[in-house]
Amino acid sequence: MTMRTDNLVRVASVADVQAAGYFPVNIAGYTLALFAYGEKFYAVDNRCPHMGFPLHRGTVKDGILTCHWHHARFDLASGGTFDQWADDVRAFAVEVRAVPGTAGDIWVDLASQREGRPHQRQRLQDGLERNISLVIAKSVISLLDSGEDPAEPFRIGLDFGVRYRQAGWGQGLTMHTCMMNLLPYLDAEDRSRALYHALSAVARDCDGTPPRFIVQPLPSGATDLTTLKRWFRRFIEVRDAEGAERCIVSALHAGAGDRQIADMLFAAATDHRYINIGHVLDFTNKALEALDIAGWEPARTAMVLTSLANGYANASRMEESNAWRNPIDLIQILAEVFDRLPAALEQGAQQSGGHAVPALSYQASLIPTLLGEDPPAIVAALLSTLQAGIAVPDLAGIVAYAAALRIAHFHTSNEFGDWDTALHTFTFANAVHQGLRRTPSAELVRGIFDAAMSLYLDRFLNIPPAPLPGPASNGHEPETVLAELPNLLDRQQQVDEAGSMVAAYLHRGGNPGRVIALLGRLLLREDRDFHTIQTLEGAVRQHILLRGTPAGIHVLVAAARYLAAHSPTMRAQGQTYQIAYRLNRGEHLFEE
Ligand code: FES
Repeated sequence: MTMRTDNLVRVASVADVQAAGYFPVNIAGYTLALFAYGEKFYAVDNRCPHMGFPLHRGTVKDGILTCHWHHARFDLASGGTFDQWADDVRAFAVEVRAVPGTAGDIWVDLASQREGRPHQRQRLQDGLERNISLVIAKSVISLLDSGEDPAEPFRIGLDFGVRYRQAGWGQGLTMHTCMMNLLPYLDAEDRSRALYHALSAVARDCDGTPPRFIVQPLPSGATDLTTLKRWFRRFIEVRDAEGAERCIVSALHAGAGDRQIADMLFAAATDHRYINIGHVLDFTNKALEALDIAGWEPARTAMVLTSLANGYANASRMEESNAWRNPIDLIQILAEVFDRLPAALEQGAQQSGGHAVPALSYQASLIPTLLGEDPPAIVAALLSTLQAGIAVPDLAGIVAYAAALRIAHFHTSNEFGDWDTALHTFTFANAVHQGLRRTPSAELVRGIFDAAMSLYLDRFLNIPPAPLPGPASNGHEPETVLAELPNLLDRQQQVDEAGSMVAAYLHRGGNPGRVIALLGRLLLREDRDFHTIQTLEGAVRQHILLRGTPAGIHVLVAAARYLAAHSPTMRAQGQTYQIAYRLNRGEHLFEE
């Protein structure tokens, strides 16, 4: 172990340590456990890296220090652990200096073995590989505390998740990307907690599953993108994931840009209706957003995008769903309107003359129809709005807003599981909206109509509709709302009350940024719930686009209601994070 003499401090006499074989010391903000073993002396951090038990109360045998709490073992000399869940303990270089008339003094280099970012990145990798949340939490906290860009741990998690899960992109990577999207809106002290949840979700998804091996591009590299897109859709049609994967890597190899590859994926994701209740399109959108954050580096891009193929090939298709066929054949209605889409889009382009009509002018008239009970009327309204020249992403945004209203109006007399029904439509509609903002995919326009039909099928969730809370709801004073909401969500099923509080605050001029940060904090204190994370992330994305309008308030009311319906949980994952946080701050977790 390297020693820098200018950092040496005297910590004890040799006699003190030899008397019992160990000696605890608190000095200069450090808490050390000194050991006499064999002919040598050793110094380690006295807080077990697992959960802080004082290591001077452990046992040294054959050069191995064993903690007496959960029996983690450490190499006394280096601090390296033999139990990965416990982490390495920090060891310090020791020097014995002669003191006339005594056995000498023990000096320790307090600066030795500082744990830099490379070490913490490696520990993050270790935590992911072994699915150890505590190790993940500690590494993320240390990295962000050291000034690391959050995008770096995000990249590590993304690259790990797409490689070490044979089934490909799943809930873990979706939560990972949702959390990263939320990060800029969270308070600074909550960001490492968000990443901890995200990375732990990735680790859990990959735990015990085989790795994934990517196929190579077609040998010539000369196949054009139009052909590859057509083949990709054909292979997904017959549920051939491997053939489809080869089309993706070949398209990338042939130079497909981010918009072109997104168009190819979105086309296949909407060749059938609302596949896998919206998850495929939502996951695709999240994978693209993940690349926006991590960078479209070629090898990563190929790994990320091919991770989607399995989900495409194996997705359920609503053509086979009774609800989409009976008593009204929604599939038939959609097939007819899709035939008319190219002409409608062309007419809309001519009508607007390149100047799309503001979406707000359509919102008021479309929303009652979208939330209504007449599927032919719904598709007709959407089609005529396209013909009138609305920008396609704006129309998708109106449908996403209507889907958020289903949650805002969700009546608590429904079955609890039906929160997810409303959520699925909302996240799908949001993904369609974000996808159309990314690329003008003609095929993805079908997603707007799919979302509208799913919204129609969800209509029973609003019978009767829970009223949208206004500024005076329940008399909440704006200035106390932010303080009261955390306590409210300590109790189960405070759905309407939570929505009222957020509405009262925002309608009276409260700062939406503070509401978002608070909802984020309240989300992070709960155990991870995939759908609640999706809801808040989708609501925030929609709020940013609707900022300054009543609709911008409604989407946050929807998120608050959903979060309240799913709070409180056991909060066990937060306890793990808190242990890591306190260890990182140098706190004593164990009171003797
Ligand atoms: S093994 Fe030391 S505190 Fe758990």
